[in-house]
Amino acid sequence: QLRAGTITTVGAIVLDIGNPFFTEVARGIEDRLAEDDFTLMLASSDEDPDREARYLRLFEEHGVHGVLVVPSTDDIEPLLELRARGVNVVLLDATSPVPDISSAAVNDVVGGQLAGNHLVAEGHTHIAFVNGAHSIRQCGDRHAGMLRALDAAGLDPATHLTEITASSLNADGGEAAMRQLLATTTAGVDRPTAVFCVNDLVALGVQRTLRAEGIAMPGEMAVVGYDDVNFAGELAIPLTSVRQPTHQLGYRAADLLLSQHTQGDRFRHEQVQFQPELVVRASSHAG
Ligand code: RIB
Repeated sequence: QLRAGTITTVGAIVLDIGNPFFTEVARGIEDRLAEDDFTLMLASSDEDPDREARYLRLFEEHGVHGVLVVPSTDDIEPLLELRARGVNVVLLDATSPVPDISSAAVNDVVGGQLAGNHLVAEGHTHIAFVNGAHSIRQCGDRHAGMLRALDAAGLDPATHLTEITASSLNADGGEAAMRQLLATTTAGVDRPTAVFCVNDLVALGVQRTLRAEGIAMPGEMAVVGYDDVNFAGELAIPLTSVRQPTHQLGYRAADLLLSQHTQGDRFRHEQVQFQPELVVRASSHAG
């Protein structure tokens, strides 16, 4: 008979398990948990706070030792309440706004800036940004980074940046966003010459549209993705991307959770922040 309420299980809620970024993060979590014989229960919130709340309830009912959560909003009140009921909480891919909750994140403002600096250095003065809603922290921060890069180059975003909000942060969302951009602009007149994508899945969809429309990459349209997931370097035209230390991110977040358990009163909360790194490939740079 299955026994609920085992203390050796940890729950993790990410935005989308279908995104290889989160699969790689989950692998890092699992590897750290395995060292202490903990197991992982994994779920996707789909950026929906109600879905996130439902999973938190289920995890609590299962008696998990703790939860690692990629928050779908900046309201962490439900997580504070959960912690007050005795469930350890660590924020994942987010920085805790309070000192007594640990978190592990990557600096997305720097990531957006790296992408922007690169495209400006490649000579682009009109950049498209296929992004998600700014209420998703990663999207808002990457946008802020892009603005910094444009500002440093003396380019006014009002005329030099065209932002499109994808309906979903995956290949279908990217494909549709690129179709929209092509339908509403004219090459050589008002069409951007480069596109920054909020993640590599979106970039995959953008590339699909460019291929279908016979638009040369990077000649007519340079493309930069984000995450540097496993397929990024393997595409027919390898994708330039902002690399995040995915395995390390998950491993460290799980380590923070388990350390609260093993160190007890000696444990000091930490807001760990990793740095991203730009990997330049053929999609944005004619060799
Ligand atoms: O879900 C949006 C993005 O946030 C992911 O692709 C990854 O970049 C994460 O940080």
